[in-house]
Amino acid sequence: MSDLTFVLGLALTVFMTVLFLQWLLQNKEKKYPKGPAGFPIVGHLPLFGKYPPKTFLKWWNSFGDVFSIRLGSWNTVVVNGYNAVKAAAEHPDDAFSGRPNFLTMEILSERTKEDRLAFGNFSPVYLKQRKLASKALRMFTSKRSEVIEELVTSETNVFVDILVKKYNRNAGLIELDVQTLVTKIIYQFLYGRGKTVEVERHVKTIIEFLEEFNELSGNGSSLDVLPWLQYIMPWKVEAIRKNTARSDDLVTEQVHQHYDTFVPGNIRDVADAIIASDADDEENKDRYVLTRARLNLTLADLQDAGVDTTHKTLLWLFLYMAKFPDVQEKVFTEIKDIVGTNRSVMLKDKPELVFTNAVLLEVMRFVSQVPFSIPHYAMKNAKIQGFDVDKDTVVIFNLYSVHHEISFWGDPEIFRPERFISDRKSLDKEKCNHIFAFGRGRRRCVGEILAQMNLFISFSNVMQKCKFIKPADEQLHITPIPGLVYTPKPYKVLVQERN
Ligand code: HEM
Repeated sequence: MSDLTFVLGLALTVFMTVLFLQWLLQNKEKKYPKGPAGFPIVGHLPLFGKYPPKTFLKWWNSFGDVFSIRLGSWNTVVVNGYNAVKAAAEHPDDAFSGRPNFLTMEILSERTKEDRLAFGNFSPVYLKQRKLASKALRMFTSKRSEVIEELVTSETNVFVDILVKKYNRNAGLIELDVQTLVTKIIYQFLYGRGKTVEVERHVKTIIEFLEEFNELSGNGSSLDVLPWLQYIMPWKVEAIRKNTARSDDLVTEQVHQHYDTFVPGNIRDVADAIIASDADDEENKDRYVLTRARLNLTLADLQDAGVDTTHKTLLWLFLYMAKFPDVQEKVFTEIKDIVGTNRSVMLKDKPELVFTNAVLLEVMRFVSQVPFSIPHYAMKNAKIQGFDVDKDTVVIFNLYSVHHEISFWGDPEIFRPERFISDRKSLDKEKCNHIFAFGRGRRRCVGEILAQMNLFISFSNVMQKCKFIKPADEQLHITPIPGLVYTPKPYKVLVQERN
Protein backbone atom coordinates (compact mmCIF):
# COMPACT_ATOMS: atom_id res chain seq x y z
CA MET A 1 0.00 0.00 0.00
CA SER A 2 1.44 3.39 -0.95
CA ASP A 3 1.68 6.19 1.59
CA LEU A 4 -0.88 8.16 -0.39
CA THR A 5 -3.43 5.31 -0.24
CA PHE A 6 -2.80 4.95 3.50
CA VAL A 7 -3.31 8.68 4.13
CA LEU A 8 -6.46 8.76 1.95
CA GLY A 9 -7.84 5.67 3.74
CA LEU A 10 -7.13 7.22 7.13
CA ALA A 11 -8.71 10.53 6.13
CA LEU A 12 -11.80 8.73 4.87
CA THR A 13 -12.09 6.69 8.09
CA VAL A 14 -11.74 9.83 10.23
CA PHE A 15 -14.28 11.64 8.05
CA MET A 16 -16.82 8.77 8.30
CA THR A 17 -16.28 8.51 12.08
CA VAL A 18 -16.87 12.26 12.50
CA LEU A 19 -20.04 12.02 10.38
CA PHE A 20 -21.27 9.04 12.42
CA LEU A 21 -20.54 10.78 15.75
CA GLN A 22 -22.27 13.90 14.51
CA TRP A 23 -25.32 11.83 13.53
CA LEU A 24 -25.28 10.08 16.93
CA LEU A 25 -25.07 13.43 18.72
CA GLN A 26 -27.90 14.92 16.67
CA ASN A 27 -30.14 11.93 17.24
CA LYS A 28 -29.17 11.27 20.88
CA GLU A 29 -31.84 13.66 22.04
CA LYS A 30 -34.40 12.36 19.56
CA LYS A 31 -37.31 10.28 20.67
CA TYR A 32 -38.78 8.31 17.80
CA PRO A 33 -42.13 6.51 18.03
CA LYS A 34 -41.97 2.73 18.45
CA GLY A 35 -44.00 0.25 16.45
CA PRO A 36 -44.61 -3.41 15.60
CA ALA A 37 -41.89 -5.49 13.95
CA GLY A 38 -42.17 -5.59 10.16
CA PHE A 39 -40.56 -7.41 7.23
CA PRO A 40 -37.57 -6.39 5.13
CA ILE A 41 -38.46 -4.70 1.79
CA VAL A 42 -42.28 -4.85 2.11
CA GLY A 43 -42.38 -3.46 5.66
CA HIS A 44 -45.72 -3.90 7.42
CA LEU A 45 -47.93 -4.36 4.34
CA PRO A 46 -48.40 -8.14 4.83
CA LEU A 47 -49.53 -7.52 8.43
CA PHE A 48 -52.42 -5.19 7.59
CA GLY A 49 -54.90 -8.07 7.39
CA LYS A 50 -58.30 -8.08 5.64
CA TYR A 51 -59.55 -5.04 7.54
CA PRO A 52 -56.63 -2.68 8.27
CA PRO A 53 -58.54 -0.27 10.60
CA LYS A 54 -58.94 -3.08 13.16
CA THR A 55 -55.25 -4.05 12.94
CA PHE A 56 -54.30 -0.39 13.46
CA LEU A 57 -56.54 -0.23 16.56
CA LYS A 58 -54.55 -3.14 18.03
CA TRP A 59 -51.24 -1.39 17.27
CA TRP A 60 -52.63 1.83 18.79
CA ASN A 61 -53.42 -0.13 21.96
CA SER A 62 -49.93 -1.60 22.11
CA PHE A 63 -47.78 1.39 21.08
CA GLY A 64 -49.80 4.50 21.92
CA ASP A 65 -51.13 7.51 19.97
CA VAL A 66 -48.09 7.81 17.70
CA PHE A 67 -46.49 4.65 16.32
CA SER A 68 -44.21 3.88 13.42
CA ILE A 69 -44.47 1.36 10.58
CA ARG A 70 -43.01 1.03 7.09
CA LEU A 71 -45.07 1.17 3.91
CA GLY A 72 -42.68 -0.67 1.61
CA SER A 73 -39.57 1.47 1.76
CA TRP A 74 -41.34 4.56 3.17
CA ASN A 75 -40.83 5.37 6.86
CA THR A 76 -44.31 6.06 8.16
CA VAL A 77 -45.80 7.43 11.35
CA VAL A 78 -49.43 6.66 12.24
CA VAL A 79 -51.25 9.24 14.38
CA ASN A 80 -54.24 8.04 16.42
CA GLY A 81 -57.01 9.46 18.57
CA TYR A 82 -58.70 12.88 18.63
CA ASN A 83 -55.98 14.88 20.43
CA ALA A 84 -52.99 13.61 18.48
CA VAL A 85 -54.68 13.76 15.05
CA LYS A 86 -56.01 17.28 15.68
CA ALA A 87 -52.61 18.53 16.90
CA ALA A 88 -50.69 17.01 13.98
CA ALA A 89 -53.19 18.05 11.28
CA GLU A 90 -53.31 21.60 12.64
CA HIS A 91 -49.55 21.90 13.17
CA PRO A 92 -48.81 25.66 13.15
CA ASP A 93 -45.94 25.35 10.65
CA ASP A 94 -47.88 23.09 8.28
CA ALA A 95 -45.18 20.53 9.01
CA PHE A 96 -47.38 17.59 7.94
CA SER A 97 -49.36 19.18 5.10
CA GLY A 98 -47.33 17.63 2.27
CA ARG A 99 -48.23 14.57 0.17
CA PRO A 100 -45.82 11.69 -0.50
CA ASN A 101 -44.79 11.08 -4.07
CA PHE A 102 -46.39 7.63 -4.30
CA LEU A 103 -46.50 5.95 -7.71
CA THR A 104 -50.20 6.66 -8.35
CA MET A 105 -49.68 10.31 -7.47
CA GLU A 106 -46.81 10.49 -9.97
CA ILE A 107 -48.97 8.91 -12.67
CA LEU A 108 -51.78 11.40 -12.03
CA SER A 109 -49.46 14.34 -12.61
CA GLU A 110 -47.28 12.99 -15.40
CA ARG A 111 -49.31 14.40 -18.30
CA THR A 112 -49.05 18.00 -17.13
CA LYS A 113 -46.06 17.92 -14.75
CA GLU A 114 -48.05 20.17 -12.39
CA ASP A 115 -49.19 19.66 -8.80
CA ARG A 116 -52.73 18.39 -8.49
CA LEU A 117 -55.10 19.73 -5.90
CA ALA A 118 -55.77 16.63 -3.80
CA PHE A 119 -52.50 14.77 -4.37
CA GLY A 120 -50.08 17.59 -5.08
CA ASN A 121 -47.17 18.69 -2.95
CA PHE A 122 -47.63 21.67 -0.68
CA SER A 123 -46.28 24.08 -3.30
CA PRO A 124 -47.27 27.68 -4.14
CA VAL A 125 -49.18 26.29 -7.16
CA TYR A 126 -51.10 23.89 -4.91
CA LEU A 127 -51.93 26.70 -2.46
CA LYS A 128 -53.24 28.90 -5.25
CA GLN A 129 -55.29 26.07 -6.82
CA ARG A 130 -56.80 25.33 -3.40
CA LYS A 131 -57.64 29.00 -2.84
CA LEU A 132 -59.38 29.27 -6.21
CA ALA A 133 -61.32 26.03 -5.68
CA SER A 134 -62.43 27.02 -2.15
CA LYS A 135 -63.59 30.42 -3.30
CA ALA A 136 -65.49 29.00 -6.26
CA LEU A 137 -67.21 26.32 -4.12
CA ARG A 138 -68.08 28.89 -1.45
CA MET A 139 -69.80 31.02 -4.06
CA PHE A 140 -72.32 28.22 -4.58
CA THR A 141 -72.53 26.78 -1.07
CA SER A 142 -73.11 30.05 0.80
CA LYS A 143 -74.38 32.78 -1.50
CA ARG A 144 -76.18 30.71 -4.13
CA SER A 145 -77.15 27.57 -2.25
CA GLU A 146 -80.49 27.47 -4.10
CA VAL A 147 -78.49 26.20 -7.11
CA ILE A 148 -77.48 23.07 -5.16
CA GLU A 149 -80.91 22.68 -3.63
CA GLU A 150 -82.71 22.75 -7.00
CA LEU A 151 -80.14 20.50 -8.71
CA VAL A 152 -79.95 17.82 -6.00
CA THR A 153 -83.71 17.73 -5.35
CA SER A 154 -84.66 17.32 -8.99
CA GLU A 155 -81.99 14.68 -9.70
CA THR A 156 -83.01 12.83 -6.51
CA ASN A 157 -86.64 12.76 -7.66
CA VAL A 158 -85.57 11.16 -10.95
CA PHE A 159 -83.44 8.68 -8.98
CA VAL A 160 -86.36 7.70 -6.70
CA ASP A 161 -88.61 7.02 -9.73
CA ILE A 162 -85.93 4.82 -11.29
CA LEU A 163 -85.31 2.88 -8.07
CA VAL A 164 -88.98 2.20 -7.44
CA LYS A 165 -89.57 1.17 -11.04
CA LYS A 166 -86.58 -1.19 -11.12
CA TYR A 167 -86.52 -2.70 -7.63
CA ASN A 168 -90.11 -2.59 -6.36
CA ARG A 169 -90.72 -6.28 -7.01
CA ASN A 170 -87.27 -7.59 -7.93
CA ALA A 171 -84.37 -6.93 -5.60
CA GLY A 172 -81.35 -5.53 -7.42
CA LEU A 173 -77.91 -3.92 -7.16
CA ILE A 174 -78.39 -0.17 -6.83
CA GLU A 175 -74.69 0.73 -7.23
CA LEU A 176 -74.81 2.02 -10.82
CA ASP A 177 -77.97 4.02 -10.09
CA VAL A 178 -76.32 5.74 -7.11
CA GLN A 179 -73.14 6.39 -9.13
CA THR A 180 -75.26 7.91 -11.90
CA LEU A 181 -77.17 10.15 -9.46
CA VAL A 182 -73.98 11.52 -7.90
CA THR A 183 -72.08 11.92 -11.18
CA LYS A 184 -75.03 13.88 -12.63
CA ILE A 185 -75.07 16.18 -9.59
CA ILE A 186 -71.31 16.82 -9.43
CA TYR A 187 -70.98 17.15 -13.21
CA GLN A 188 -73.73 19.76 -13.54
CA PHE A 189 -72.53 21.56 -10.44
CA LEU A 190 -69.01 21.90 -11.86
CA TYR A 191 -69.81 22.41 -15.55
CA GLY A 192 -73.35 23.81 -15.73
CA ARG A 193 -76.98 22.91 -15.14
CA GLY A 194 -78.41 20.91 -18.01
CA LYS A 195 -75.10 19.29 -19.08
CA THR A 196 -75.88 15.87 -20.46
CA VAL A 197 -74.45 12.99 -18.47
CA GLU A 198 -74.48 9.65 -20.31
CA VAL A 199 -74.02 6.45 -18.34
CA GLU A 200 -71.68 4.81 -20.86
CA ARG A 201 -69.58 7.84 -21.72
CA HIS A 202 -69.43 9.77 -18.45
CA VAL A 203 -70.51 7.68 -15.44
CA LYS A 204 -68.68 4.51 -16.46
CA THR A 205 -65.50 6.35 -17.52
CA ILE A 206 -65.27 8.21 -14.22
CA ILE A 207 -66.17 5.17 -12.10
CA GLU A 208 -63.74 2.84 -13.93
CA PHE A 209 -60.93 5.31 -13.30
CA LEU A 210 -61.93 5.68 -9.64
CA GLU A 211 -62.10 1.92 -9.12
CA GLU A 212 -58.67 1.41 -10.60
CA PHE A 213 -57.24 4.32 -8.63
CA ASN A 214 -58.84 3.19 -5.38
CA GLU A 215 -57.43 -0.28 -5.69
CA LEU A 216 -53.90 0.93 -6.34
CA SER A 217 -53.68 4.00 -4.15
CA GLY A 218 -54.02 4.88 -0.52
CA ASN A 219 -52.26 3.64 2.54
CA GLY A 220 -51.50 0.04 1.87
CA SER A 221 -51.39 -0.72 -1.83
CA SER A 222 -48.15 -2.50 -2.60
CA LEU A 223 -47.81 -1.02 -6.09
CA ASP A 224 -48.05 2.48 -4.68
CA VAL A 225 -45.25 2.13 -2.14
CA LEU A 226 -43.05 -0.45 -3.89
CA PRO A 227 -42.61 1.37 -7.20
CA TRP A 228 -40.32 -1.33 -8.66
CA LEU A 229 -43.43 -3.55 -8.89
CA GLN A 230 -44.40 -1.46 -11.92
CA TYR A 231 -41.75 -3.39 -13.88
CA ILE A 232 -43.24 -6.70 -12.75
CA MET A 233 -46.88 -5.66 -13.28
CA PRO A 234 -46.65 -3.09 -16.10
CA TRP A 235 -50.25 -3.81 -17.21
CA LYS A 236 -51.57 -2.41 -13.89
CA VAL A 237 -49.72 0.86 -14.42
CA GLU A 238 -50.88 1.00 -18.02
CA ALA A 239 -54.51 0.48 -16.92
CA ILE A 240 -54.40 3.38 -14.50
CA ARG A 241 -52.58 5.57 -17.03
CA LYS A 242 -55.23 4.81 -19.66
CA ASN A 243 -58.15 5.39 -17.30
CA THR A 244 -56.64 8.63 -15.95
CA ALA A 245 -56.28 9.92 -19.51
CA ARG A 246 -59.88 8.96 -20.43
CA SER A 247 -61.27 10.60 -17.31
CA ASP A 248 -59.10 13.74 -17.69
CA ASP A 249 -60.15 14.06 -21.35
CA LEU A 250 -63.75 14.51 -20.24
CA VAL A 251 -62.58 17.43 -18.10
CA THR A 252 -60.46 18.92 -20.92
CA GLU A 253 -63.57 19.09 -23.10
CA GLN A 254 -65.31 21.16 -20.41
CA VAL A 255 -62.27 23.39 -19.83
CA HIS A 256 -62.14 24.38 -23.51
CA GLN A 257 -65.90 24.95 -23.69
CA HIS A 258 -65.75 27.18 -20.61
CA TYR A 259 -62.85 29.32 -21.84
CA ASP A 260 -64.55 29.67 -25.23
CA THR A 261 -67.89 30.80 -23.80
CA PHE A 262 -66.83 32.60 -20.60
CA VAL A 263 -68.56 35.95 -20.04
CA PRO A 264 -67.36 37.99 -17.03
CA GLY A 265 -70.25 38.68 -14.68
CA ASN A 266 -72.23 35.62 -15.81
CA ILE A 267 -70.97 32.85 -13.54
CA ARG A 268 -72.79 29.68 -14.55
CA ASP A 269 -70.94 27.07 -12.50
CA VAL A 270 -67.80 26.21 -10.53
CA ALA A 271 -65.57 26.15 -13.64
CA ASP A 272 -66.63 29.73 -14.48
CA ALA A 273 -66.19 30.75 -10.83
CA ILE A 274 -62.57 29.54 -10.82
CA ILE A 275 -61.76 31.44 -14.02
CA ALA A 276 -63.43 34.56 -12.60
CA SER A 277 -61.70 34.32 -9.20
CA ASP A 278 -58.30 34.12 -10.86
CA ALA A 279 -59.05 37.11 -13.09
CA ASP A 280 -60.03 39.11 -9.95
CA ASP A 281 -56.77 38.29 -8.16
CA GLU A 282 -54.69 41.22 -9.48
CA GLU A 283 -52.29 41.02 -6.52
CA ASN A 284 -50.85 37.62 -7.48
CA LYS A 285 -50.82 38.09 -11.25
CA ASP A 286 -47.05 37.84 -11.58
CA ARG A 287 -46.78 34.80 -9.28
CA TYR A 288 -49.46 32.54 -10.72
CA VAL A 289 -51.22 32.18 -14.05
CA LEU A 290 -54.28 30.00 -14.34
CA THR A 291 -53.59 27.92 -17.42
CA ARG A 292 -55.99 25.49 -19.06
CA ALA A 293 -53.85 22.64 -17.73
CA ARG A 294 -54.12 23.92 -14.17
CA LEU A 295 -57.87 24.43 -14.40
CA ASN A 296 -58.07 20.90 -15.79
CA LEU A 297 -56.22 19.43 -12.78
CA THR A 298 -58.30 21.32 -10.23
CA LEU A 299 -61.60 20.35 -11.84
CA ALA A 300 -60.49 16.74 -12.29
CA ASP A 301 -59.77 16.44 -8.56
CA LEU A 302 -63.03 18.12 -7.57
CA GLN A 303 -64.90 15.81 -9.93
CA ASP A 304 -63.16 12.60 -8.89
CA ALA A 305 -62.97 13.27 -5.13
CA GLY A 306 -66.55 14.49 -5.15
CA VAL A 307 -68.05 11.56 -7.07
CA ASP A 308 -66.12 8.82 -5.29
CA THR A 309 -66.72 9.83 -1.68
CA THR A 310 -70.31 11.04 -2.06
CA HIS A 311 -71.63 8.02 -3.99
CA LYS A 312 -69.98 5.60 -1.58
CA THR A 313 -71.41 7.46 1.43
CA LEU A 314 -74.91 7.21 -0.06
CA LEU A 315 -74.38 3.49 -0.75
CA TRP A 316 -73.42 3.03 2.92
CA LEU A 317 -76.45 5.02 4.08
CA PHE A 318 -78.92 2.96 2.02
CA LEU A 319 -77.24 -0.28 3.13
CA TYR A 320 -77.57 0.69 6.80
CA MET A 321 -81.22 1.69 6.32
CA ALA A 322 -82.02 -1.75 4.86
CA LYS A 323 -80.03 -3.46 7.61
CA PHE A 324 -81.52 -1.39 10.48
CA PRO A 325 -85.24 -1.00 9.55
CA ASP A 326 -86.11 0.56 12.94
CA VAL A 327 -83.65 3.38 12.31
CA GLN A 328 -85.07 3.84 8.81
CA GLU A 329 -88.62 4.10 10.22
CA LYS A 330 -87.52 6.71 12.76
CA VAL A 331 -85.98 8.82 9.97
CA PHE A 332 -89.17 8.56 7.90
CA THR A 333 -91.41 9.40 10.89
CA GLU A 334 -89.31 12.46 11.74
CA ILE A 335 -89.50 13.74 8.15
CA LYS A 336 -93.25 13.01 7.94
CA ASP A 337 -93.93 14.82 11.23
CA ILE A 338 -91.78 17.87 10.58
CA VAL A 339 -91.85 18.36 6.80
CA GLY A 340 -94.81 16.22 5.75
CA THR A 341 -94.98 14.40 2.44
CA ASN A 342 -96.49 17.07 0.20
CA ARG A 343 -93.26 18.93 -0.49
CA SER A 344 -89.60 18.00 -0.80
CA VAL A 345 -87.22 18.25 2.17
CA MET A 346 -85.21 21.47 1.90
CA LEU A 347 -81.99 22.82 3.40
CA LYS A 348 -84.00 25.08 5.71
CA ASP A 349 -85.44 21.90 7.36
CA LYS A 350 -81.98 20.63 8.32
CA PRO A 351 -81.76 22.12 11.85
CA GLU A 352 -85.08 20.53 12.82
CA LEU A 353 -84.40 17.05 11.44
CA VAL A 354 -82.21 16.10 14.37
CA PHE A 355 -82.49 12.31 14.08
CA THR A 356 -81.89 12.38 10.30
CA ASN A 357 -78.70 14.39 10.92
CA ALA A 358 -77.70 11.95 13.66
CA VAL A 359 -78.03 9.02 11.23
CA LEU A 360 -75.81 10.77 8.67
CA LEU A 361 -73.19 11.39 11.37
CA GLU A 362 -73.38 7.89 12.86
CA VAL A 363 -72.94 6.17 9.48
CA MET A 364 -69.91 8.38 8.74
CA ARG A 365 -68.50 7.63 12.20
CA PHE A 366 -69.15 3.91 12.16
CA VAL A 367 -67.92 3.31 8.61
CA SER A 368 -65.24 6.02 8.38
CA GLN A 369 -65.27 5.93 4.56
CA VAL A 370 -61.76 7.39 4.24
CA PRO A 371 -60.33 5.71 7.37
CA PHE A 372 -56.72 6.81 6.92
CA SER A 373 -57.40 10.10 5.10
CA ILE A 374 -55.22 10.84 2.08
CA PRO A 375 -51.58 10.19 3.08
CA HIS A 376 -49.69 13.22 4.39
CA TYR A 377 -45.93 13.90 4.31
CA ALA A 378 -43.58 15.61 6.77
CA MET A 379 -42.06 18.65 5.06
CA LYS A 380 -39.65 19.38 7.94
CA ASN A 381 -38.43 17.80 11.18
CA ALA A 382 -41.20 18.27 13.75
CA LYS A 383 -42.80 16.64 16.76
CA ILE A 384 -46.12 14.95 17.41
CA GLN A 385 -46.97 14.53 21.09
CA GLY A 386 -43.30 14.73 22.03
CA PHE A 387 -42.19 12.17 19.39
CA ASP A 388 -39.77 13.18 16.67
CA VAL A 389 -40.94 12.85 13.10
CA ASP A 390 -38.23 13.52 10.53
CA LYS A 391 -38.67 15.35 7.24
CA ASP A 392 -39.72 12.99 4.42
CA THR A 393 -41.71 10.67 6.66
CA VAL A 394 -45.18 9.59 5.49
CA VAL A 395 -47.77 10.60 8.08
CA ILE A 396 -51.09 8.77 8.32
CA PHE A 397 -53.95 10.40 10.18
CA ASN A 398 -56.00 7.48 11.47
CA LEU A 399 -59.49 9.00 11.24
CA TYR A 400 -61.02 5.62 12.04
CA SER A 401 -59.30 5.71 15.44
CA VAL A 402 -60.89 9.10 16.22
CA HIS A 403 -64.31 7.64 15.43
CA HIS A 404 -63.72 4.49 17.49
CA GLU A 405 -61.96 5.93 20.55
CA ILE A 406 -63.48 4.05 23.51
CA SER A 407 -62.63 6.72 26.09
CA PHE A 408 -64.81 9.22 24.20
CA TRP A 409 -67.60 7.17 22.56
CA GLY A 410 -68.02 4.47 25.23
CA ASP A 411 -69.44 1.85 22.86
CA PRO A 412 -67.97 2.75 19.46
CA GLU A 413 -68.62 -0.71 18.00
CA ILE A 414 -72.40 -0.31 18.36
CA PHE A 415 -74.36 1.46 15.60
CA ARG A 416 -76.46 3.95 17.59
CA PRO A 417 -77.43 7.30 15.99
CA GLU A 418 -79.00 8.46 19.29
CA ARG A 419 -75.47 8.99 20.66
CA PHE A 420 -75.42 12.31 18.75
CA ILE A 421 -78.59 13.63 20.40
CA SER A 422 -78.27 15.57 23.66
CA ASP A 423 -80.78 15.62 26.54
CA ARG A 424 -82.18 18.81 25.07
CA LYS A 425 -83.10 16.85 21.91
CA SER A 426 -80.62 18.75 19.77
CA LEU A 427 -77.36 17.59 18.18
CA ASP A 428 -74.55 17.22 20.72
CA LYS A 429 -71.92 19.78 19.58
CA GLU A 430 -68.96 18.02 21.17
CA LYS A 431 -69.83 14.70 19.51
CA CYS A 432 -70.28 16.43 16.14
CA ASN A 433 -66.83 18.01 16.55
CA HIS A 434 -65.33 14.53 17.02
CA ILE A 435 -66.33 13.55 13.48
CA PHE A 436 -63.23 13.84 11.32
CA ALA A 437 -64.72 12.26 8.18
CA PHE A 438 -63.47 15.23 6.12
CA GLY A 439 -60.04 15.39 7.75
CA ARG A 440 -58.65 18.37 9.69
CA GLY A 441 -56.21 21.21 9.23
CA ARG A 442 -54.86 22.78 6.09
CA ARG A 443 -55.65 19.85 3.79
CA ARG A 444 -59.12 19.30 5.13
CA CYS A 445 -61.65 18.38 2.42
CA VAL A 446 -62.32 21.39 0.23
CA GLY A 447 -65.75 20.03 -0.74
CA GLU A 448 -67.03 19.41 2.80
CA ILE A 449 -69.91 21.91 2.80
CA LEU A 450 -71.03 20.86 -0.66
CA ALA A 451 -70.88 17.18 0.38
CA GLN A 452 -72.92 17.82 3.52
CA MET A 453 -75.60 19.72 1.60
CA ASN A 454 -75.71 17.12 -1.13
CA LEU A 455 -75.90 14.18 1.31
CA PHE A 456 -78.58 15.81 3.44
CA ILE A 457 -80.87 16.73 0.52
CA SER A 458 -80.49 13.47 -1.36
CA PHE A 459 -80.69 11.16 1.69
CA SER A 460 -83.65 12.89 3.35
CA ASN A 461 -85.64 13.11 0.11
CA VAL A 462 -85.04 9.46 -0.68
CA MET A 463 -86.13 8.54 2.87
CA GLN A 464 -89.26 10.67 2.51
CA LYS A 465 -90.31 8.95 -0.70
CA CYS A 466 -89.20 5.33 -0.44
CA LYS A 467 -88.20 2.46 1.77
CA PHE A 468 -85.24 0.05 1.41
CA ILE A 469 -86.00 -3.57 2.27
CA LYS A 470 -83.59 -6.45 2.82
CA PRO A 471 -84.46 -9.39 0.56
CA ALA A 472 -84.86 -12.67 2.49
CA ASP A 473 -81.80 -14.28 0.89
CA GLU A 474 -79.45 -11.26 1.24
CA GLN A 475 -76.90 -10.93 4.07
CA LEU A 476 -76.16 -7.18 3.78
CA HIS A 477 -72.55 -7.41 4.92
CA ILE A 478 -71.13 -4.26 6.46
CA THR A 479 -67.46 -5.26 6.25
CA PRO A 480 -66.05 -2.97 3.53
CA ILE A 481 -63.81 -3.45 0.54
CA PRO A 482 -60.62 -1.53 1.48
CA GLY A 483 -59.07 1.13 -0.78
CA LEU A 484 -58.51 4.85 -0.41
CA VAL A 485 -62.28 5.26 0.06
CA TYR A 486 -63.89 2.16 1.62
CA THR A 487 -66.79 0.69 -0.36
CA PRO A 488 -69.62 -1.61 0.72
CA LYS A 489 -69.62 -5.06 -0.89
CA PRO A 490 -72.24 -5.10 -3.70
CA TYR A 491 -75.66 -5.66 -2.13
CA LYS A 492 -79.21 -6.16 -3.39
CA VAL A 493 -82.29 -4.42 -1.98
CA LEU A 494 -85.99 -4.01 -2.70
CA VAL A 495 -87.19 -0.41 -2.94
CA GLN A 496 -90.84 0.37 -2.16
CA GLU A 497 -92.57 3.69 -2.65
CA ARG A 498 -93.98 5.31 0.53
CA ASN A 499 -97.68 6.12 0.25
C1 HEM B 1 -68.89 12.37 1.93
C2 HEM B 1 -68.13 13.05 1.13
C3 HEM B 1 -66.68 13.34 1.34
C4 HEM B 1 -65.78 12.84 2.25
C5 HEM B 1 -66.04 11.82 3.35
C6 HEM B 1 -64.50 13.45 1.98
C7 HEM B 1 -63.35 13.22 2.71
C8 HEM B 1 -62.12 13.79 2.43
C9 HEM B 1 -60.91 13.53 3.18
C10 HEM B 1 -60.78 12.63 4.38
C11 HEM B 1 -59.92 14.25 2.59
C12 HEM B 1 -58.44 14.25 2.98
C13 HEM B 1 -58.11 15.31 3.96
C14 HEM B 1 -56.65 15.27 4.32
O1 HEM B 1 -55.79 15.04 3.47
O2 HEM B 1 -56.33 15.43 5.50
C15 HEM B 1 -60.50 14.96 1.48
C16 HEM B 1 -59.78 15.79 0.65
C17 HEM B 1 -60.33 16.38 -0.47
N1 HEM B 1 -61.64 16.37 -0.87
FE1 HEM B 1 -63.17 15.45 0.08
N2 HEM B 1 -64.63 14.29 0.91
C18 HEM B 1 -65.94 14.27 0.50
C19 HEM B 1 -66.50 15.00 -0.54
C20 HEM B 1 -65.82 15.82 -1.39
C21 HEM B 1 -66.41 16.62 -2.44
C22 HEM B 1 -67.91 16.68 -2.77
C23 HEM B 1 -65.39 17.27 -3.07
C24 HEM B 1 -65.41 18.24 -4.23
C25 HEM B 1 -66.41 18.57 -4.96
C26 HEM B 1 -64.16 16.90 -2.40
C27 HEM B 1 -62.90 17.33 -2.76
C28 HEM B 1 -61.76 17.08 -2.04
C29 HEM B 1 -60.44 17.59 -2.41
C30 HEM B 1 -60.12 18.42 -3.65
C31 HEM B 1 -59.55 17.16 -1.42
C32 HEM B 1 -58.07 17.46 -1.31
C33 HEM B 1 -57.82 18.68 -0.47
C34 HEM B 1 -56.36 19.05 -0.36
O3 HEM B 1 -55.49 18.19 -0.51
O4 HEM B 1 -56.09 20.23 -0.13
N3 HEM B 1 -64.46 16.02 -1.39
N4 HEM B 1 -61.85 14.68 1.41
